[in-house]
Amino acid sequence: MKRLKFLLTAVFTAIFTIAVVTACNPSTTSTGSSSGGSSGGQTLTMATSADYPPYEFVDTASGSQEIQGFDIDIANYITDQLGYQLQINNIDFNGLIPALQANRADFVMAGMTPTAERKQNVDFSIVYYQAQNTIVAKKGSNLTTPESLNGKTVGVQLGSIQEGAAKDIQGANVKPLNRINEIVQELKAGRIDAAIMEDTVAQGFISSNPDLEFNPIPTTGESGSAIAFPKGSELVERFNPILEEMKSSGKMEELVTKWFRSEQAPGQAK
Ligand code: ARG
Repeated sequence: MKRLKFLLTAVFTAIFTIAVVTACNPSTTSTGSSSGGSSGGQTLTMATSADYPPYEFVDTASGSQEIQGFDIDIANYITDQLGYQLQINNIDFNGLIPALQANRADFVMAGMTPTAERKQNVDFSIVYYQAQNTIVAKKGSNLTTPESLNGKTVGVQLGSIQEGAAKDIQGANVKPLNRINEIVQELKAGRIDAAIMEDTVAQGFISSNPDLEFNPIPTTGESGSAIAFPKGSELVERFNPILEEMKSSGKMEELVTKWFRSEQAPGQAK
């Protein structure tokens, strides 16, 4: 009997301890594990603009505040391989490069294209995914080519390469907005005629907004996504071999399939 009492006390103490420890660990945007890399579980801070499904987004429908997506899986994989914890900060796209310049982030993953202009201010990894620009417009509006946007109002994300592409279109009235979902709302409300967006992102918005359609346009300048770092960061040399390894091992393809190709790809945007 004494023995039983002892056992019960031990069990209840254990349950209580687990409950307290769990309660003291509220979920934050920190992810990753300390899988014994050389850096002893230090934290790297990544900045992103989580308005870009399926690259990075908050799935508001699920009620979770957690940022998820293709870039997040890659960031988790790399930092895990290098033995770092990962902290993710969500800011507007236009503020990402200034955040690196002010050393407020160790790296940026935001489907960011390594342009010559950006390379003056930050360093980039190798390109890990290619993309193409498209015109998004209401179905039947016949806005399918750059020429058709002459005299039209075109929404783009502030500071993006799409803003540059739209400004190159003769006669287009460019309306830069902070976040991608604002562009979709403006389009649906008829306050803009069209938007320029990357194909994979457009695809997600179209599948949840059947009144819209998208048409690819020829790529003129730089395209694709790379990881950005503060100028001179030693992390570039450490991230690149892991990106290469992800490409050759099939890990990257697995994530591409998960986020861009599967029938019910997560993060079908609203
Ligand atoms: N690839 C484009 C660029 O680098 C757009 C990226 C937008 N990313 C985002 N997370 N909103 O300009």
